[in-house]
Amino acid sequence: MADAAPEPKEPPLIRREDYRPFPWLVPEIVLDFDLGLDRTIVRSTLTVARNARGDRADTIRLNGDGLSPRRVAIDGAPVNDWAMDEGDLVLPLAGDAHEIMIETEIDPSANSQLMGLYASNGMLCTQCEAEGFRRIAFFPDRPDVLSTYRVRMEGSRTQFPVLLSNGNAVAHGESDDGRHWAEWHDPWPKPSYLFALVAGDLVARSDRFTTMGGREVALNVWVREEDLPRTEHAMESLKRAMKWDEDAFGREYDLDQFNIVAVGDFNMGAMENKGLNIFNTKYVLADPETATDGDYDAIEGVIGHEYFHNWSGNRVTCRDWFQLSLKEGFTVLRDQLFSQDLQGEAVKRIEDVRVLRSVQFPEDSGPLAHPIRPDSFREISNFYTATVYNKGAEVIRMMRTMAGPEAFRAGTDLYFDRHDGEAATCEDFVSAMEDGAGLDLGTFRRWYSQAGTPKVSVELDHRGNTATLTLRQYVPPTPGQPAKQPMPIPLRLALFDRASGTHAGEQLIVLEDAEATIAFDGFAERPVLSINRGFSAPISIERQASRDDLVFLAARDDDAFARAEAMQELVVGHLVAAAGEGLDASDRQQGQDAIAEALAAVLEDSRLDDLMRGELMVLPGEAYLAEQMLVADPGRIHREREGLKRWLAGELGDRLRTLHSRASAVPYALDRKARGARKVKTLALSYLAAGDREAAAELAARQYDAADNMTDRQGALMALCGLDSAARTDRLIDFYRRHRSNALVIDKWFSLQAMSLHPAAIEHVKALREHQDFTLRNPNRVRALYMAFAGNPHAFHTESGEGYRLVADLILDLDPINAQTAARFVPPLGRWRRIEPGRAALMRAELERIAAAPGLSRDTREQVERSLG
Ligand code: ARG
Ligand code: ZN
Repeated sequence: MADAAPEPKEPPLIRREDYRPFPWLVPEIVLDFDLGLDRTIVRSTLTVARNARGDRADTIRLNGDGLSPRRVAIDGAPVNDWAMDEGDLVLPLAGDAHEIMIETEIDPSANSQLMGLYASNGMLCTQCEAEGFRRIAFFPDRPDVLSTYRVRMEGSRTQFPVLLSNGNAVAHGESDDGRHWAEWHDPWPKPSYLFALVAGDLVARSDRFTTMGGREVALNVWVREEDLPRTEHAMESLKRAMKWDEDAFGREYDLDQFNIVAVGDFNMGAMENKGLNIFNTKYVLADPETATDGDYDAIEGVIGHEYFHNWSGNRVTCRDWFQLSLKEGFTVLRDQLFSQDLQGEAVKRIEDVRVLRSVQFPEDSGPLAHPIRPDSFREISNFYTATVYNKGAEVIRMMRTMAGPEAFRAGTDLYFDRHDGEAATCEDFVSAMEDGAGLDLGTFRRWYSQAGTPKVSVELDHRGNTATLTLRQYVPPTPGQPAKQPMPIPLRLALFDRASGTHAGEQLIVLEDAEATIAFDGFAERPVLSINRGFSAPISIERQASRDDLVFLAARDDDAFARAEAMQELVVGHLVAAAGEGLDASDRQQGQDAIAEALAAVLEDSRLDDLMRGELMVLPGEAYLAEQMLVADPGRIHREREGLKRWLAGELGDRLRTLHSRASAVPYALDRKARGARKVKTLALSYLAAGDREAAAELAARQYDAADNMTDRQGALMALCGLDSAARTDRLIDFYRRHRSNALVIDKWFSLQAMSLHPAAIEHVKALREHQDFTLRNPNRVRALYMAFAGNPHAFHTESGEGYRLVADLILDLDPINAQTAARFVPPLGRWRRIEPGRAALMRAELERIAAAPGLSRDTREQVERSLG
């Protein structure tokens, strides 16, 4: 495999507008695997026929990446006049229908890119999305070529007792020399990116599900034997997801089996291969001892996500990779709605918006900004982004908000109905939504073509009995898109009467043009405006809300999301002013007092449940604060934010300790109440850790020692990691000893130190990369150390630039091993234009150092070049 081969020339730019149908159809493929960890022989037989919709061709181009053909035959006769072009195999093909047989040989154990067929912990597994299938067999590796797959595999029975592929198991048997075989057939035509194969020594937790139409489905979650006790939550999540998709979207499962396999080495979260989902172990394994409440939620969300792809992705797939958001945006929305039904709407929404703001907003305002349906790429792996996924979900959510849930459902029903079995486009989705939901989405389509987070400025005027709202939108320029057009922006809003604290009903207005003025009568006094409630549009609101209005809304808004927003706005306003132009002593005092008053109310409000209280206690993150400033000084932002925490800890110390001890008395359970208690417990602790450090270290050590679950233990260790105390070292050693056999927990151990508030965090990271348990071969471990570090502003943005150098060194070391994962570390350095000049120059210099390295992967090269601009 040409894993580390240097790229001879600039990889081509692939454009959406150049789409052409493939000249050939491949209705059927038969794959025969002779399995071995370092030698697997693949024989593929393709039935091909001319595509009436494609151009006429006298050859067929089959994509390959690092493959060479051992044998080629057409219609049973050996062929020798084939040609290689880059990695592709080009065969002469004169007639209208043929059978092509090709044999290749691959070495899974040498596959460190984890794309295609690879070995992980002695088992064989695959990852084909987006373009991994071409590392297994020569094939038109594009999502608009749909085939039915028949797979036969044979291998050592001791090494690979379990043999899985897509669809239904049709036959299995023994052969000579301790070998056995299995045959699978998937009746649903699918693109190659949904192919999967697993062979290994695995055991399953098994269960059943009866679909609404009465189909009996056998469910299995396959793991290594020692992990079996940690599969209950995944299985329960799967059954809930299957039921939910029937109830909420009318979608029924369509095979007799559904298999999930957990793999320790995996580039992403999980993969929706038809009938055989392959998961990162991180999104499968959980028990109270080793997984936090956050892990439980993430597992439920990802299990739902991959399952929901069976319809939004598999039954209706994408025509080309520019349409990725068609399946990903829609499926993220579906998993968000699923989790919200289980976790509570407001809490889930607040968390989703926090991710959008801290990850997608910076992407949308930086050098890598792209529309949810990109126009071009060099390496598609670089476009599995927060924009395609999370903003994509927001765009579809806006359609739902404008249509209402019932009409939206009519739209999705029509979409599934119309395009079942097809490879569709975003435009197909929008048209189905217009026809089925009765929306006019004419100019709304701009959300698909324009990048950048719209800014909406809001002014509220009051005269006589009338309140007048003026809204102006502005979509900032992004790379390749200097000028933008206005986009329809749905805004849910309410006007509160200050005296009674109530409003006359929420309204939905859609800002269609660049500017709009709306008059509201019947307000003798100036009302308080609550706008973009529930985050009805993925925009940033610019307004001069008074401190009083924000304190009012933070205490009284009946929309729980809006209440949290007011709280955030209050803190963001204060911290951005403090870390930007600076505050004079009296402004600073007033700002701090208002925040303390609002936070005190949050700590004491008995009507709040603790899960929501926790959300209200979370301070805006440093990335989001930096995003509010044209040019940010990360050092100042960090000092101001920590300073505010310290001040609040002093001001509200008694209340925080009371909350901590009340929450500590709640016994472990998985219900909302107990989870809420754990959430506020650690939040209270992290405020206190900013104040009296010694007392906090003692409290954290107590929380650690008393913990009977990972949520409390990790929370306590997180606080301790930021403090310079003997308890820190002791508990870090204890944690490591307790969990050394569990890779996912050791990942946490790496992360906690890399993201800590400790002044020497960067030194800790340097020591940890030399730790015996650190390896560049495992993406989870790499992310545990380095993503945590890149997200730790005070360490990453160390003034000397050493943090940037560490990340650039990682990119260079990792690129030849795992290009896809290496490229994911470029965006943090790509933020340089928005950082103060001293650090910006250091960041840029590291990007230039990477760009100058020979033999860079297509993945990393594209990200670095875009980042340098
Ligand atoms: N379709 C998968 C998901 O979102 C993501 C797989 C992408 N993998 C990759 N190597 N780019 O559920
Ligand atoms: Zn997905």
